[in-house]
Amino acid sequence: MASLEKGSVDVVVTSPPYNLGINYGTYMDTLEQAEYLNWCVSWSRSIRDVLKDQGSLFLNLGSSPSNPTIPHALLFQILKDEKFVLQNTIHWIKAITVIDDAGHELSKGHFKPINSERFVNDCHEYIFHLTPTGSTPIDRRAVGVEYKHKSNISRWEHTDGMDKRCRGNTWFIPYETIQCRDKDRPHPATFPIALPEQCIRLHGCRPDLVVMDPFLGIGSSWVAAIRCKVGRFIGFELDKSYVALAREHASDLTIVWPDDSN
Ligand SMILES: C[S@@+](CC[C@H](N)C(=O)[O-])C[C@H]1O[C@@H](n2cnc3c(N)ncnc32)[C@H](O)[C@@H]1O
Repeated sequence: MASLEKGSVDVVVTSPPYNLGINYGTYMDTLEQAEYLNWCVSWSRSIRDVLKDQGSLFLNLGSSPSNPTIPHALLFQILKDEKFVLQNTIHWIKAITVIDDAGHELSKGHFKPINSERFVNDCHEYIFHLTPTGSTPIDRRAVGVEYKHKSNISRWEHTDGMDKRCRGNTWFIPYETIQCRDKDRPHPATFPIALPEQCIRLHGCRPDLVVMDPFLGIGSSWVAAIRCKVGRFIGFELDKSYVALAREHASDLTIVWPDDSN
């Protein structure tokens, strides 16, 4: 990141190692907590250096029953460093059960069951939206949802007559259903492409947008950036085999540039 021009990146969307002992190819996910937190502060400073003053850092963090406070510890460490302000907290909901209008129980999404007499299954993670001053403008309607009761469109002046309201901070994003883990998800900790895509759209898409992921994995954020037709994407990844897969995933897509009539 030190080789990049200062203040040149609009959006960072990333999921760092969580220090939960995950078996990555190259990276050892088992640092002492203090060392891990110091390392995280050092890369968050590097991100701030390259981020524009009105930029966004979407930081996806999860936990485990054995280390339930790690996302909060990391968030507080970054906030204590005073380079970022917490502008929004989004909950990434991986699986949920709701009662539909007919009174039926409806379960959607996927989760890894925990066999425990103490802990409930873990069906969510955090996306902390960190910004340099807390006043980065966002495009709420770009990831908005339609009004359930259409009468609200004319009732509220702020709708401007549009059938789109803010989605709020609970984002239900299920993992894609896969047949074969090794082939279809050959990395132990990916996020679904829809997650970085919604983050980029929430920040606001523009053809000259520069998006970065310092922990690229197999390239979910790169694919999202291509789908959003951003101007430039920059990624970093320690493990060469993940980089090769990221390149494969990105090149599977036809890149349609904004000024391309096709
Ligand atoms: C949680 S995973 C990211 C997965 C990614 N979001 C995806 O969907 O494919 C974190 C990644 O960070 C990588 N990593 C760890 N330390 C790194 C470093 N110093 N520089 C670049 N990548 C690193 C790991 O190899 C791992 O692939």
